[in-house]
Amino acid sequence: MTYNVNEFDSQEVVAQDRKHVWHHLTQHKPFEEKDPMVIVKGLGMRVWDAKGNEYLDAVSGAVWTVNVGYGRTEIADAVRDQLVTLNYFAQTAGNVPAAQFAEKLISKMPGMSRVYYSNSGSEANEKAFKIVRQIAAKKYGGKKHKILFRERDYHGTTITALSATGQFERKNQYGPFTPGFVEVPHCCEYRSQWGDVDDYGIRAANEIERVILEEGADTVGALCLEPITAGGGVIEPPQGYWDRVQEICKKYDILLHIDEVVCGLGRTGKWFGYQHYGVKPDMVTMAKGVASGYAAISCTVTTEEVFDAFKEDDDARMGYFRDISTFGGCTAGPAAALVNMQIIENENLLENVTQQGEYLLGCLNGLMAKYDVIGDVRGKGLFVGFELVKDRVTKEPMDESLAIAIGAHCMQNGVIIGRTNRSFKEFNNTICLSPALIATKVELDIIVKALDEALADLAPNS
Ligand SMILES: Cc1ncc(COP(=O)(O)O)c(C=O)c1O
Repeated sequence: MTYNVNEFDSQEVVAQDRKHVWHHLTQHKPFEEKDPMVIVKGLGMRVWDAKGNEYLDAVSGAVWTVNVGYGRTEIADAVRDQLVTLNYFAQTAGNVPAAQFAEKLISKMPGMSRVYYSNSGSEANEKAFKIVRQIAAKKYGGKKHKILFRERDYHGTTITALSATGQFERKNQYGPFTPGFVEVPHCCEYRSQWGDVDDYGIRAANEIERVILEEGADTVGALCLEPITAGGGVIEPPQGYWDRVQEICKKYDILLHIDEVVCGLGRTGKWFGYQHYGVKPDMVTMAKGVASGYAAISCTVTTEEVFDAFKEDDDARMGYFRDISTFGGCTAGPAAALVNMQIIENENLLENVTQQGEYLLGCLNGLMAKYDVIGDVRGKGLFVGFELVKDRVTKEPMDESLAIAIGAHCMQNGVIIGRTNRSFKEFNNTICLSPALIATKVELDIIVKALDEALADLAPNS
């Protein structure tokens, strides 16, 4: 059988999928009665399924990935040219797109210096964790090996990335977990642990110091945070948080690892989420939007100081970073990533994200004025969400069945939206939007209309 992208029988493909493919994050029992969705084409912000239905994709490939939109022939052409010239060689050696992309990426990340390639967000985070562990071994006799992560953040699917994840239902049934990962409290002001206070950001950051002191500062090597919590409910850290976090990391000689897997490459209106807050990280990980899903690529980016910790003479046999990712040597990733960045620059997409993001946030605030079920609207750039509550005063979260029903209603009307997906015991109540960075007012209006209609049908004010 040869593969021709335009030659397939839709019914046969759906039957093949139904019989043999195990979909991600999906209960398959319903497929005994109905067909699974099979996506066959994408263009701009739209996708089509095998049955010919057209959808406006408000979540960039369901999981905030296709930042520059579907159907970018310039990326496909670059990848094809690269593949027929050199598809692969292990990253033990360099290659042309990897070198060129590293330079371009670093030019957007002042203070950062080195790029380590792998394939997925989880893997990029695993590399960062291994870097912390090896620095602990080399400099601190193994003692400073603990890695702090935050309640509600997600860092990936592997057992260790899950060990660093603050989401109960995501982790449930997958333990036991990797030792040495310690949770710090969340920083969602709407869900304040101290009621209504003026200095919420400082208090939330001080909780990190409390945990460090409880664990022993000499045992803590790194703090791993999302710049804005994504799958955990679109949580932007409040005023004062980041300055205090950085002070704490400096004080206790703790590396700051920022997970930009979602926010990276323009999603929030800057190249990276941390750049909104004057953060100076030691390590930054990224994946999803790096090549907008045109090829698999992730990066663990470090400062020269972190990199230098691994430079030693040859006789130090265990001295260097003894890690490899086979597919980190695929050239399609950096080739696609280079063109992806060029598109973001040439089409002024960072400016577009800022402008359209403000518009979208305004529209969602408009929905909140209309529907009591929306308790809080939050986000930055084209990365926004809102919480569904039973009561605005008590803030009791809605059951996730309402978020699921809103998603299904929008889908029925041709718009794909996102939601917190069985991550928490009680907070699976956030609707998320992360349209491609190319979104215009026209598409955003369609998305908001679909939400408006779903809320009118499913959660009208009593
Ligand atoms: C913040 C964050 N980090 C890491 C990951 C894991 O990335 P991947 O699924 O590519 O392994 C995700 C995935 O959603 C994520 O949202």
